[in-house]
Amino acid sequence: MENNFTASPLKIIEKGEKKIYSFNIEPQGNIDLTTVSSFGEEWQKFDSFSEKEIAQIGDDYFDIVSDELYAGKSVLDMGCGTGRWTKYVARKAGFVEAMDPSDAVFSAAYLLAENKNIRISKASVDQIPFPDNSFDLVFSLGVLHHIPDTEAAMKKCVYKVKPGGHFLVYLYYNLDNRGAVFKLIFHLSNLLRRCICRLPSLLKKLVCDILAILIYLPFVAVTRLLRFLGLEKLSSKVPLSWYADKTFRVIRNDSLDRFGTPLEQRFSRKQISDMMTNCGLYNIVFSDKEPFWHALGQKR
Ligand SMILES: C[S@@+](CC[C@H](N)C(=O)[O-])C[C@H]1O[C@@H](n2cnc3c(N)ncnc32)[C@H](O)[C@@H]1O
Repeated sequence: MENNFTASPLKIIEKGEKKIYSFNIEPQGNIDLTTVSSFGEEWQKFDSFSEKEIAQIGDDYFDIVSDELYAGKSVLDMGCGTGRWTKYVARKAGFVEAMDPSDAVFSAAYLLAENKNIRISKASVDQIPFPDNSFDLVFSLGVLHHIPDTEAAMKKCVYKVKPGGHFLVYLYYNLDNRGAVFKLIFHLSNLLRRCICRLPSLLKKLVCDILAILIYLPFVAVTRLLRFLGLEKLSSKVPLSWYADKTFRVIRNDSLDRFGTPLEQRFSRKQISDMMTNCGLYNIVFSDKEPFWHALGQKR
């Protein structure tokens, strides 16, 4: 069920039960190496997820993907990080190729050690070493906005989808569905990110942990209080309300992800829809639930 590689790996690294196939990464390509290195560190710090966390958050991302689109089929997880969503789909998929250019693949080897239907490769979206039109489902969650040319990267992913197959993407939204206060809070936090992502690694991790306590937890507390009072609709308007039922570990992880990453871009729903159309996708469906925006398209 594995796909044939279209290039030879430079080396094969044995990591416990898993092999990691490491491919050439072109530094001048569509990749930001500082960001990739930052993710390598992030995912080696947050390298384990419980079955419950994976199932709970995975359901949020895959709410618009019906099981039959990947059950028993061939899947590619582009920018897999620790491989948590690779693991999520591997429960039902035939075979999953997990791919990431960062040292996160070493954490993935640990998380996915027992999954026989997963292979891990260290490669960039720029040079995906698989034939075009070879996967029933390709997904890329929280990845393409960290790449200099997002649309070009999306095209590379869609090339690998079989005609009639599907592509699932999650890209940071530009708060196009939010009000002025929400946007202001975001712009202030973005200024913080621009400073924090430049800090030395240890200090960056410490500052992000402090922000998890000072920024995320108060919003989580307000959201929980509103929900306790039965004000569900109002609670969904609170920034970071998505974290109300998440563990503190997930919150720390996401704080480092958000404030520690040098390159991030944001898109409106319309921009994402246009990009997907330009990449040859149709039947485009957006989830109306967080995380915003995640969308599914079908290849012609
Ligand atoms: C926020 S993490 C998301 C990881 C995983 N999809 C998840 O949601 O847990 C972004 C990932 O994109 C990867 N990435 C960055 N540049 C990339 C590129 N050019 N090609 C493929 N992946 C890339 C990073 O190494 C990182 O693991």
